[in-house]
Amino acid sequence: MLISFEGIDGCGKSTQIELLKGHLERDLGKRVHIYREPGGVPLAEELRNLLLDVRYTVDPISELLMFSSARSQLVQQQIKPDLENGVVVILDRYYDSTTAYQGYGRGVLPLEDIHRLNSWASHGLVPDITYYLQLSWEEANNRMTHRDPDRMERSGTDFFERVISGYNELAKTEGRICTIDASKSIDEVFAVVLSRLEDLK
Ligand code: TYD
Repeated sequence: MLISFEGIDGCGKSTQIELLKGHLERDLGKRVHIYREPGGVPLAEELRNLLLDVRYTVDPISELLMFSSARSQLVQQQIKPDLENGVVVILDRYYDSTTAYQGYGRGVLPLEDIHRLNSWASHGLVPDITYYLQLSWEEANNRMTHRDPDRMERSGTDFFERVISGYNELAKTEGRICTIDASKSIDEVFAVVLSRLEDLK
């Protein structure tokens, strides 16, 4: 099974991913691997360092292709073999991030081109379920004040408003996406995660 988590920076994905991993392992006896995007394998981690480094000004098409390159490598090197071995894979971001950030946020190419590239870079691998943790930019920003922002996080309010509307549009059209109000408590969000997982069975 392939599960992805999406949402803007600061929406609480990592906490929910850890909770879900614990549940799947302890209560259901599953083997679970978590990968973050971009990253998860050495080549993709190198690309991640370049993509988030504040010293670089990255051309939007270069950015799109680098995120996609990192994804292709992760899918081929880890995700596909894991799924073949019966491992549950949880992804901290997947190609919906590219649609939201590069497609809607940067507005770099027509969406149909982004979708085509996403399908290449993911080698056609579609998540069984995607949790979208929906949060306003104000709230996400409040949660992030303690962090030193990376290159993506410095993209500004208008950019993040476009990313959020991109996620909202995606959630309307993609049946696999489960939208959860991420302003709720950790426990309340996790209860929704679990109930939607039950529906899958
Ligand atoms: P990360 O620190 O993992 O962010 P978060 O903790 O919020 O998940 O950094 C990944 C950044 O890269 C994040 O700002 C989202 C962005 N991103 C894209 O712009 N496009 C993509 O395809 C992916 C996977 C991530």
